Amino acid sequence: MAKSRQVRGINDTERSIEMKVQRAAVIGAGAMGSGIAQVLSQSGIHVILKDVKQEFVDKGLANIKRMYDSRVKKGTLTQEEADELFGLIKGATDYEGFNNVDIVIEAALEEIQVKLAIFKEIDEICPSRAILASNTSALSISEIASATRRADKVVGMHFFNPAQFMKLVEVIPGVKTSKDTVKTAIELCRDMGKVPVEVKECPGFLVNRLLFPYMNEALWALTEGAGTPQEIDEAVEAFGLPMGPFTLFDMTGIDICAHVNEFLYKEYGPRFTPSPLLKHMIKAGFLGQKSGAGFFVHEKGAIPKKGEPKTVNPELAKLIEAAKKDAKTDAKASKKFEAYRVLLPMFNEAVYALQEHVIEPSDVDVAMEFGCGLTRGLLTIAEEKGLDWCLNELDSYHKDLGERFRASWLLRKLVRAGVHDFSKLEQQPVAAR
Ligand SMILES: NC(=O)c1ccc[n+]([C@@H]2O[C@H](COP(=O)([O-])OP(=O)(O)OC[C@H]3O[C@@H](n4cnc5c(N)ncnc54)[C@H](O)[C@@H]3O)[C@@H](O)[C@H]2O)c1
Repeated sequence: MAKSRQVRGINDTERSIEMKVQRAAVIGAGAMGSGIAQVLSQSGIHVILKDVKQEFVDKGLANIKRMYDSRVKKGTLTQEEADELFGLIKGATDYEGFNNVDIVIEAALEEIQVKLAIFKEIDEICPSRAILASNTSALSISEIASATRRADKVVGMHFFNPAQFMKLVEVIPGVKTSKDTVKTAIELCRDMGKVPVEVKECPGFLVNRLLFPYMNEALWALTEGAGTPQEIDEAVEAFGLPMGPFTLFDMTGIDICAHVNEFLYKEYGPRFTPSPLLKHMIKAGFLGQKSGAGFFVHEKGAIPKKGEPKTVNPELAKLIEAAKKDAKTDAKASKKFEAYRVLLPMFNEAVYALQEHVIEPSDVDVAMEFGCGLTRGLLTIAEEKGLDWCLNELDSYHKDLGERFRASWLLRKLVRAGVHDFSKLEQQPVAAR
């Protein structure tokens, strides 16, 4: 693979407005930064990998070296190729060389003050042509851009973990980001073999915004007794998701999920009303895989694969009882759990995102495929079932279970107009650009 890629010359100076990235810098050599530096190097781009301490830089470089070694072992790269690509990455604890980069991708701590300080510094040091990108999971790109004098060149590039393997990158323009910047970021993603989608800035961007109503609803269904964690996971996996919501909770970390859901609830309101269950799990120390138990027991810290037997945490029943009391509801599942109970809130949120022009319809399916591994398009599943059916189900759940199921007005409008699919809303998906 690397054979066909040219290591780019470092003396080229001419650039068009829509720039071809040749030299990059990554800030933060942690899990995401080292992964991003590796994918940049794989496409022949020179990379400076910066962190605050040499030991963090070394750790990041060692991670990358390990990944390249494993590719040599697998036979997808020769030793020579791996050495050449790894040689494109230079570790740093200062800003040397930043005065000659085309792009900086920041992957430091998820704290706005840290990011504002970094963007202010790099704005002063980097050449005026350079794009300044952030891999933030949730912070505002427009706010980060406000720390610079080049808001038109600041953009979100949200990679997924692990960045070496996950194909999706959400490219997020802030309010002042120029079209050329977005275009360059999209082109760079393609050069790296990634699948970009453009998502207008909104809390959670697209993938997390859609995942959380679905995961949160699984918690409410569990608390009501609609199904066990295994039953719910299996019902959902049958729809082409690589893992069910409870396995995903355990893998991601219960504390991280609770934090994201609270954030989305604060931003979007009642549709994201969090189930109290996660708080009880955190209090009891059940954080998922990393703590040895979450919804399931993970004896060797491993996540069971699809179809493998799972042992439910024996303490879960007690925690569910406590969550029920907190929720002040004795809502009982009116019918046996079916996957649509959790897929409909995800689909409905996608239609809210369409309603807000956050994304193009065909990019929704692309994002969910390459960001979450959905083997069938989310909108396609809904179109096959019938938009009118989806709306009726949402309305019926709304009557029984409340605001989490309030249907978007766009869905109601399409159904009233007799429209059966989302193609009419399409303007210019990334795939067509
Ligand atoms: N981990 C994920 O699943 C994931 C996915 C997508 C996006 N993100 C985002 O990517 C970013 C990094 O996440 P991570 O999981 O790699 O974190 P991490 O803790 O593994 O790495 C962060 C690194 O940044 C370094 N750092 C902190 N301040 C710095 C500074 N001022 N200058 C240079 N380096 C600095 C730290 O020393 C650390 O090595 C965060 O914004 C996070 O929200 C994370």
